[in-house]
Amino acid sequence: MSLNVINARVTFHKSPIHMLERFTFRDLDSAYSSFLEHSGLQECVILQTCNRVEVFGAGSAHDVEKIKKTWASIGGLEENAFKENLEISEGTEAFEHLLKLTAGLDSLVVGEEQILSQIKGAITVARESKTSGNNLNTLFDKAIRVGSRVRNTTGISRGSISIGSIAVKLAEENIDDLKSKHILLIGTGEAASLVAKSLKKRGIEFLVTSRTFERSKAFAETVAGRPIEFESALANFKKVDVLFVATVAPYFLVTYERVRDAMESKRDGMMILDLSNPRTVDEKVATIGRIKMFNLDQIAEMVDKNMRTRRGVVSSAEKIINEELPVVQAVMKRLQVEPIVKGVFKDIDTVRVKELKKALQMLGETDEEKIRIIEHLTQAIVEGIISTPMNNLRKASEQGDSELLKSVSKIFDYNTKG
Ligand SMILES: NC(=O)c1ccc[n+]([C@@H]2O[C@H](COP(=O)([O-])OP(=O)(O)OC[C@H]3O[C@@H](n4cnc5c(N)ncnc54)[C@H](OP(=O)(O)O)[C@@H]3O)[C@@H](O)[C@H]2O)c1
Repeated sequence: MSLNVINARVTFHKSPIHMLERFTFRDLDSAYSSFLEHSGLQECVILQTCNRVEVFGAGSAHDVEKIKKTWASIGGLEENAFKENLEISEGTEAFEHLLKLTAGLDSLVVGEEQILSQIKGAITVARESKTSGNNLNTLFDKAIRVGSRVRNTTGISRGSISIGSIAVKLAEENIDDLKSKHILLIGTGEAASLVAKSLKKRGIEFLVTSRTFERSKAFAETVAGRPIEFESALANFKKVDVLFVATVAPYFLVTYERVRDAMESKRDGMMILDLSNPRTVDEKVATIGRIKMFNLDQIAEMVDKNMRTRRGVVSSAEKIINEELPVVQAVMKRLQVEPIVKGVFKDIDTVRVKELKKALQMLGETDEEKIRIIEHLTQAIVEGIISTPMNNLRKASEQGDSELLKSVSKIFDYNTKG
């Protein structure tokens, strides 16, 4: 089936990170059902990370308005909620966007590794739930291959700094002798591990906590830090000089009251870095005296500065993408003719098998060797006649010649719209 690929996205480029939450899909299964049912898409892959919410679709009857409407209705948003936040790419532009994503070129921290595994995860989920099909599966497989090539040949990931190390750098720049301070990390997930690795690399000791003590213990053993009970950590902010928070709690873990009370019995200041999106530190905390607070948006600004110093690696990565894009385009175009090629081969083979059976019956042939020779003869004739036109059809499609596809569909009475 001939389908067009579209990508609709809300990302940190056009929307502050704390606003992205409005556009995320809480129930992925029902989001998939809605897009497939209401927006004219036959295939769909949803990619959600802390920096982006993206819908990749393939369809023959979709339009941007339908996608927007469906997205708004899933999230209970006003239809004008998207304003300039929503970016749309179609066809080749959508392919290019996915290649940049897998290469890490569209990431907040250019070259970061997580996005590639997040994309692999998204297509695996879509494949398993059968919301993606031949078009998006092929596109994602190719893009993942290109992303790996970029990372293996340009060293883009090696030179990149993580959001965790930027956060630690911010703490270092704002606090004298960070090593001697009491540091607490709340969170034991992926983002927390980026902070922990960076602290460990600098030889800085810290406490780590999350709701389940076992998880904190395992984190301390496998990543770094000294585990501490969650409630005791939350009740003892007065002992903390630097607090990193990276959790997905749906409420403020670090409340105004808790910090205010802690600061009353504390002489020195406290620095709080909230990497969470949505925030898990109440913004009002920043108004308390001697508190220095940074949230993910501010950390992201630092990341942006870092990117400007890495232009060389970026341009090598872009060169690879420019080389690979026509290959991906050709593969995707060829995909459009594969159903008809398969269909024609199948129809002709059905005739061949039927006629072969008839002929063998009429001949009353029982010699297996002779039957095998006759069968091979029929196969060779079919392939000899049909292979060249079908290969020409594939080539024409790769070169964007849709006229031949129309003619072949007409000749073989094949409906390309499926
Ligand atoms: N991953 C990244 O690269 C990245 C980058 C920038 C920002 N972020 C942001 O960082 C935050 C964490 O992301 P992640 O990727 O690390 O997630 P994750 O791997 O799923 O980890 C989530 C963490 O949150 C804790 N948690 C979950 N529910 C909680 C609750 N109700 N109260 C307290 N803690 C809770 C979990 O530990 P327990 O269940 O044991 O409490 C775990 O430590 C998110 O807000 C994300 O947007 C992530």
